[in-house]
Amino acid sequence: MKILAIETSCDDTCAAVLNNDKILSSVISSQTDLHATWGGVVPDIAKRAHLERIGPVIAEALKRATKKETLKRVQGDNMKFWMKNIDVIAVTKGPGLAIALGVGINAAKELAIKYNKKLVAVNHVEGHILSNFLKNKMGKPKRVIKFPALALTVSGGHTKLVLVFKIGSYKVIGETLDDAAGEALDKAAKMMGLGYPGGPIIERLAVGGKTDYLVLPRPMTNVKNLDFSFSGLKTSFYYQIKNWPKERIAANLSDLSATYQLAVFDTLSKKFVRAIEEVKPKTLLVSGGVAANLNLRKMMRKVAKIYGLPIFFPFKKELNTDNAAMIGMAGYFMAQRGEWVENIDDLEREARMEM
Ligand code: KG4
Ligand code: ZN
Repeated sequence: MKILAIETSCDDTCAAVLNNDKILSSVISSQTDLHATWGGVVPDIAKRAHLERIGPVIAEALKRATKKETLKRVQGDNMKFWMKNIDVIAVTKGPGLAIALGVGINAAKELAIKYNKKLVAVNHVEGHILSNFLKNKMGKPKRVIKFPALALTVSGGHTKLVLVFKIGSYKVIGETLDDAAGEALDKAAKMMGLGYPGGPIIERLAVGGKTDYLVLPRPMTNVKNLDFSFSGLKTSFYYQIKNWPKERIAANLSDLSATYQLAVFDTLSKKFVRAIEEVKPKTLLVSGGVAANLNLRKMMRKVAKIYGLPIFFPFKKELNTDNAAMIGMAGYFMAQRGEWVENIDDLEREARMEM
């Protein structure tokens, strides 16, 4: 089954083509540079950029998924030719930024109607979880993922612990009550006068830094549930550095980053451990933008080792952050279950879509 997937839930314009679970192409047009000066995503700017980019990004994904010999033969209306090979269109329905989601959904609807294709509407968080099932063109890596699995998805928009009974059957067992882990990193980066997104910048600066430079809380780790809260941590950081002159912050960026990063990851790791003990999973899955962080991966691998459990992360760095391949992966399984959008005209974005 060939799937064309479209993702525009936040600030990346993405399209991908999959052959079942294999990625034939994945195009990501990042808007980071457009939002960087604002220190976060500006909805109107995101919408405009998605509108400008969605057509070329989809065309590029279709083109890259086409064999070279075939490309040489194609002339005229390429879209018509490329779409011939597509069986299903998958698009992110939510959760996300409403006006950004709308752009991807409209593009998917137009293509589905014009080329008479079936459509599946995917939950973005399910996409992140299932990014661990993606393979390259050669069908690698081969992974045995046993159920129930425990998934931790950590990104700029969500921090969730999800029990995966099987593909398509989930129970959210813990989530953030306020900021997401990535958001907490982004906001701290902003306080230190660093760029956006903050997570990767903090990761880079933290190398070699002291991890006990400030005393920071590990919020809710003593509470016997699986929910997270990062706003108290962010506030504690803010009050400790708010009266510092710029020069003092600049001189201590490495220690500040390492200390803050560890506070966020320690909190994630403690709740992950609690969840493992509660639900006794057979496999651990970690994904989402923050899962690109090598320190977090190391901590989570340590946890997995202690419990003797296999742990997986998306096989490529670009599959942690937002991408359309993960939407195609979730879409493939939905298509297999026959979960089609019945009436294409009625498909609407769902900014606060639950799992
Ligand atoms: O999954 P994603 O692209 O978008 C959402 O669904 O939110 O995640 C973006 C988030 C941002 O908060 C960014 O700072 C964080 O992921 N992030 C990282 C790293 N790369 C991206 N956080 C820590 N370390 C990284 N290397
Ligand atoms: Zn995401």
